[in-house]
Amino acid sequence: MKKQMKAAVIQRYKQTKIELVDRELPKIKKTDVLVKVAAASINPIDRKIKDGDLKMLLHYQFPLTLGSDFAGVIQAVGSEVQRFQVGDKVYGRVNKDRIGTFAEYLAVDQADIAIKPNNLTFSQAAAVPLVGLTSYQAIHDFMKLKRGDKVLIQAGSGGIGTVAIQLAKLAGAFVATTTSEKNADMVKKLGADQVIDYHRQDFSEVLTDFDYVFDTLGKEQLKKAFQIIRPGGKVVTLSGIPNRKFAKEYGLPWWKQAVLDIASYPITRLEKESGATYVFLFMKPSGEQLVKLTDLIESGNLQVILDRIVPLEQIQQAFDYSATGRAHGKIVLNIDPKVSDQF
Ligand SMILES: NC(=O)c1ccc[n+]([C@@H]2O[C@H](COP(=O)([O-])OP(=O)(O)OC[C@H]3O[C@@H](n4cnc5c(N)ncnc54)[C@H](OP(=O)(O)O)[C@@H]3O)[C@@H](O)[C@H]2O)c1
Repeated sequence: MKKQMKAAVIQRYKQTKIELVDRELPKIKKTDVLVKVAAASINPIDRKIKDGDLKMLLHYQFPLTLGSDFAGVIQAVGSEVQRFQVGDKVYGRVNKDRIGTFAEYLAVDQADIAIKPNNLTFSQAAAVPLVGLTSYQAIHDFMKLKRGDKVLIQAGSGGIGTVAIQLAKLAGAFVATTTSEKNADMVKKLGADQVIDYHRQDFSEVLTDFDYVFDTLGKEQLKKAFQIIRPGGKVVTLSGIPNRKFAKEYGLPWWKQAVLDIASYPITRLEKESGATYVFLFMKPSGEQLVKLTDLIESGNLQVILDRIVPLEQIQQAFDYSATGRAHGKIVLNIDPKVSDQF
């Protein structure tokens, strides 16, 4: 096996250009597998990590190889790995303190991976883990959506939205979503019952009495969610400010809990006034939940929407495109062109 690998790294936060450099292959721990990465997807969190926006929650050392999810083939297993073997085709979202999927090789704990769906290529499979798990956790762990519930999914055409709409429909919910007119047909095909073109209509003037809002946008859009939620409903955000409850459960020190308590005060006030609950969701890796997503994909119940696949060498352009906020579905990096198109 090679000793060096190509990896996309930054040397410091806010570095404008991502560097492609040679790095040593990662070493595996007892419960890790070593994966030859075929493809990895770009998620907005990769940009937020690069820019140091998540320093309050995550700490990294430099040089830092970026990348949160992947699909690839196992090359070696640690001494305590029982669930996987060399040659297995797997996918996963790595632990937040062990990122680095934008590289030819990756060490990842067996608990964070699953066998990839057999009806997806590696490039398609790499698009699933982070957005799939986040949506699954929002819809099943936090909302516990059931037949007849009304949910608004913000930004239905994004990486998260395209998965969340499908999972919410599978749970039997009525799904409203926001997007631009150009993406309206796509989100309807995914199952959305009511599509709001956010350029023309303000969702808070159209929707009332919703049981849940899945907020992916934060800021003013998050505040408006409290105008449409019913008392006893729940607003689950990915992009809003974490509140004290989250900070405590996440184990942050008291002073960070206090800072977040103050910063989230305007939302806490809206939460009280509306009689709804506000939840900041910070997704977690889970091989077990990935198995559930695999089942849905293999049975034809969950589709993967790709915006584009680009070579690793064009990672900077792919990041710049992601930063426009206009991607419809996922942006995937082709890391091993010999296998990324294979099933
Ligand atoms: N907390 C967590 O654990 C967690 C996990 C995953 C993601 N996130 C966060 O969730 C957010 C969404 O992630 P993503 O992967 O879905 O992003 P994405 O794929 O980059 O989202 C792009 C989509 O957003 C749509 N959009 C942009 N502004 C909009 C608006 N005002 N109203 C409706 N749609 C709008 C765009 O549609 P148009 O072209 O039509 O505008 C585009 O299709 C990101 O901020 C990400 O960091 C957080």
